[in-house]
Amino acid sequence: MADRSRDHKGWYSHLERLESVLLLGGVGSLLVSFIALGLLPALELGEEVEEATPASYQSMTAEEEHGFAVYQREGCAYCHSSFVRSTDADRQRFGPAAEAWEYQDQYPQQWGTRRIGPDLSRLAGVQSDDWHYAHLYDPRSTVPESIMPSYPWLFTEAEDGSVTPTREGTALVAYLQSLGRNMEEAGPQTDGHEDHGEAEATESENGQPNRLDQLDGREGH
Ligand code: HEC
Repeated sequence: MADRSRDHKGWYSHLERLESVLLLGGVGSLLVSFIALGLLPALELGEEVEEATPASYQSMTAEEEHGFAVYQREGCAYCHSSFVRSTDADRQRFGPAAEAWEYQDQYPQQWGTRRIGPDLSRLAGVQSDDWHYAHLYDPRSTVPESIMPSYPWLFTEAEDGSVTPTREGTALVAYLQSLGRNMEEAGPQTDGHEDHGEAEATESENGQPNRLDQLDGREGH
């Protein structure tokens, strides 16, 4: 019974001290903003992605993942975006606007912020593998006015002058050929977000101009 007054104030008396109030207030605000601005949106996006993913969704193969790593290492995203913005100009030029579920296998996503070259996210099947090899080895061989750098280290040159892609080269092209495949498989119905009106959707799905026609002076591919 020595310290009755303390007992009487209860275990929480130290919480009422100014330092404690400041500390708890500070940590509490951080916690609330972490939950409200970080955790909840992430959980919600995760759910949305799960719901929106089409049944035909194909994850990246091991080779495509390897190619994705090469793509990151070579800094292709400094010049190429991988994100079709939800604007008419972008949809007409590249195809359906990007959706969150398309990026579920990619981390860190290579969205990019500059377009020195065209967006690559709807690239699957646009050119042949051989076109890509020739283009990566020497971009000027397929697009004479190209300012894209060449990537000779993705190839080996034999004595007789023949050039073959390395494993990294084939993996990179496998990755490029997978870009947009899932959106194509899923068909236009998953591109029916509220922000694309009916008319816009038909316009970009039907008479959609070929993205390649819009790059002046491009040779066949
Ligand atoms: C310095 C900027 C730059 C960098 C870095 C760059 N590119 Fe390009 N890329 C371009 C430009 C400009 C074009 C358009 C002319 C052409 O086709 O070469 C282009 C075109 C392309 C095309 C043809 C796209 C289409 O729709 O016809 C592909 C594929 C491509 N780049 C892949 C890559 C890959 C893969 C890398 C990384 C290994 C890369 N680029 C790095 C500038 C760049």
